[in-house]
Amino acid sequence: MADQQVEFALDLIRKYDKSGPRYTSYPTAPQFHEGFGPAAYTEVARATNAETPKRPLSLYFHIPFCDTLCFYCACNKIATKDRSKAVTYLDYLFREIELQGALFDDDRTVDQLHWGGGTPTFLNSDQMRALMAKTAEHFRLRDDDSGEYGIEVDPRAAGSDTIAALREVGFNRLSVGVQDFDPRVQEAVNRIQPAEQTFAVIDAARREGFHSLSLDLMYGLPFQSRATFAHTLERVIEARPDRLAVFNYAHLPDLFPPQRRIRDEDLPAPEEKLAILADTIERLTAAGYVYIGMDHFALPDDELTRAQQQGQLHRNFQGYSTHADCDLVALGATAIGSVGATYSQNVRTLEPYYEALDSGELPVFRGYELTAEDCLRRAVITRLMCDFALDFDRVEADWGVDFAEHFAAELADLEEMAADGLIELGERGLTVTPRGRLLIRNIAMVFDAYLRAKEGAQRYSKVI
Ligand SMILES: C[S@@+](CC[C@H](N)C(=O)[O-])C[C@H]1O[C@@H](n2cnc3c(N)ncnc32)[C@H](O)[C@@H]1O
Ligand code: SF4
Repeated sequence: MADQQVEFALDLIRKYDKSGPRYTSYPTAPQFHEGFGPAAYTEVARATNAETPKRPLSLYFHIPFCDTLCFYCACNKIATKDRSKAVTYLDYLFREIELQGALFDDDRTVDQLHWGGGTPTFLNSDQMRALMAKTAEHFRLRDDDSGEYGIEVDPRAAGSDTIAALREVGFNRLSVGVQDFDPRVQEAVNRIQPAEQTFAVIDAARREGFHSLSLDLMYGLPFQSRATFAHTLERVIEARPDRLAVFNYAHLPDLFPPQRRIRDEDLPAPEEKLAILADTIERLTAAGYVYIGMDHFALPDDELTRAQQQGQLHRNFQGYSTHADCDLVALGATAIGSVGATYSQNVRTLEPYYEALDSGELPVFRGYELTAEDCLRRAVITRLMCDFALDFDRVEADWGVDFAEHFAAELADLEEMAADGLIELGERGLTVTPRGRLLIRNIAMVFDAYLRAKEGAQRYSKVI
């Protein structure tokens, strides 16, 4: 098990800070192509029913709507005040549930379920009940509270009655969007969220017996400084959520036009931003949180921490997860699934989503079928991102390759990282050091065959 300490080595961060993917999938989305459509997806999905052991399912539902637009946002969302849009959307989502449900055998339990967005709490409580009931008609949901059933909650769109309704329909995990408690920052990003609203959601979640509560924070936002963010962290630590996601604000106004409303001159300078990150890691670890990796922290007794300690952590499109063995079925516009050795993505906008379902077709518009080599590299990258270590013997046993021979070029590239103290490189494995933990993406990138071929590198945000 890797050491979970983090060391903040500014010189190395500067040296290695280049753009790179977050590896919620490998290969990453730029490799997906339109040659993989509904027919290919259907065939693969059906074939997974015949595999032994039969894998359980993980369901992801994308609810794209948001009441207002946060200027920083890089998520797939549609800003609207028109609540009737959700009525139409659900109508079509129900049709997709029927089509997808028919592909998978009835005895495949849903061990994991997630509603993401946009803002799933854009739906009212009746719509949430209807969506879960429709899901239960077509999939085998767990009714004993043992699944990992989570939802992203925006406190501006969720009162304590919403939280009670979520628990009642079967959710046991909440992830709550906060970003920053500072009013000036909130104003600059168009997300006015009084602290009382956030604390009301946290209190309600505790009352209702949610198993795990996570807060989303962001650093690098306009007007943030070490001093202001220290204040936000203090309040967060007081609330003591089980998990924290602390995201690096990716300022890419050419890709995300609403970010143009954030002025460059209001952003913290790179040194200040790095100092905020260093403070964050220091304060959270001092407060008892474990740095899981890739922006995530959790309390020592949280399932995520335990899964990491047992080498059972996994990574999927929602980030870190404790369920490794599921087929991920994704529903809703833009949603990305992972079924068998494939990835598949639904169309990104509502019109073609509705058109496909009107003609009784799955709205899959692109995807990717992994080769054996992709699967091997995916396994290597996943173990690195989750364990911060790699056991060459295990790779050889699982994949029937000679590690040193197969990854000769990669091992040569890792020498420099070893010399810089990011990793300890031995004959039969490698371990990421506390100095290397923040640069795990860079270490994983060494094993990315597509990046090695110099494809798509410019499309990602900076690592730190
Ligand atoms: C879909 S939102 C969460 C649910 C809900 N819409 C909300 O905002 O409360 C997912 C999270 O992504 C993060 N996020 C959004 N845009 C980002 C960006 N440009 N850079 C880094 N993180 C971002 C935010 O922390 C946000 O809470
Ligand atoms: S952060 Fe959440 S609420 Fe804000 S625009 Fe993005 S998805 Fe919508």
